[in-house]
Amino acid sequence: MKAIGYSETGPITAVNSLVEFETDIPVPGPKDILVEVQGVSMNPVDVKVRALMQPDGGSPRVLGFDAAGTVKAVGADVTLFQPGDEVFYAGDITRPGSNAEYQLVDERIAGKKPSSLEFAEAAGLPLTSITAWEILFDSFGLKEGDGEGEALLIVGAAGGVGSILIQLAKQLTSLTVIATASRADTEAWVKEMGADHVINHRNPLDEEIKSLGIQPKYVASLTHTDKHFSAIVELIKPRGHIALIDDPQSLDMASIKPKALSFSWEFMFTRSMFQTEDMDAQHQLLTRVSDMLDKGIVKSTVTRNIGAMTVENLKAAHVAQESGASIGKTVLDGMKAE
Ligand SMILES: NC(=O)c1ccc[n+]([C@@H]2O[C@H](COP(=O)([O-])OP(=O)(O)OC[C@H]3O[C@@H](n4cnc5c(N)ncnc54)[C@H](OP(=O)(O)O)[C@@H]3O)[C@@H](O)[C@H]2O)c1
Repeated sequence: MKAIGYSETGPITAVNSLVEFETDIPVPGPKDILVEVQGVSMNPVDVKVRALMQPDGGSPRVLGFDAAGTVKAVGADVTLFQPGDEVFYAGDITRPGSNAEYQLVDERIAGKKPSSLEFAEAAGLPLTSITAWEILFDSFGLKEGDGEGEALLIVGAAGGVGSILIQLAKQLTSLTVIATASRADTEAWVKEMGADHVINHRNPLDEEIKSLGIQPKYVASLTHTDKHFSAIVELIKPRGHIALIDDPQSLDMASIKPKALSFSWEFMFTRSMFQTEDMDAQHQLLTRVSDMLDKGIVKSTVTRNIGAMTVENLKAAHVAQESGASIGKTVLDGMKAE
């Protein structure tokens, strides 16, 4: 099969930053499904791994986390899917990725693809939906319907994760949602996703929030956490909860003591990386999100399809991701002509 990967870390502008190569179609392990990849999406993790994690040698490392496609074969212990089923998933950071014609994925982290979406569009949802869902229900410990009278501040809300987090928070909890956005386009987008209020993250967040007269109990800090952390600690309600997903260099943890704040890191690869007993929670939540998409309760966050998965198009997707100005999600079609 054809796959696209990288052998050397470095800038995307390097001639061989991504290369196409031939490799064997992988054989499913007991809990694996073999998927023909028909759509993928771009995430910041693709860019971070390519730029920073030197592959061991041998074949190039295949990137790509989000995917949607059709099951072609199943392992001996698979019970959730059969050949012909259409699935979407965000994969496992320890295994070869979705930038290939075929990919293996553990059935417990895959969901039924929304039937109302094309493959590429469906591929825009899994990684960000898992992250957003786990922030709400694992990190914050909310139950569906919780949050009456409380507010959630989402920092960096127009990006991939924020776009679906706004929607899941509005549809599945009673929280008031305050989104941050710094441009007219991103402000309009977060309102379209359902945000109740918008503030600008180019100004100090604690000052911006005063103008609303709302003190959030929950803060999802999705990007540039080191820049915003002291303002978040200042603006959050005592005994509130900060969840973050990015990679700040250092944070002043002592500063959260006076307000007795809770703090947690969400990492959507944890369940697959450590094969946790509850890793099928991701199968279940993707199945719920798929159903919500088909019923129109949440909408697709995809804003751009770059076209077929070629080296050139994948490079363009990496460049767009690196700009830091993404709105919603960028996707690509599979490698094979439909
Ligand atoms: N831990 C996990 O499981 C996990 C999962 C997914 C993502 N992540 C990480 O989470 C981060 C966000 O991911 P994403 O996919 O949502 O990113 P993204 O789509 O690239 O986010 C883009 C958004 O960031 C906003 N932004 C730019 N500068 C900002 C600033 N100084 N302060 C606040 N917002 C700013 C932009 O809004 P404006 O244009 O309005 O400025 C833009 O809409 C990345 O670091 C990613 O690696 C972690």
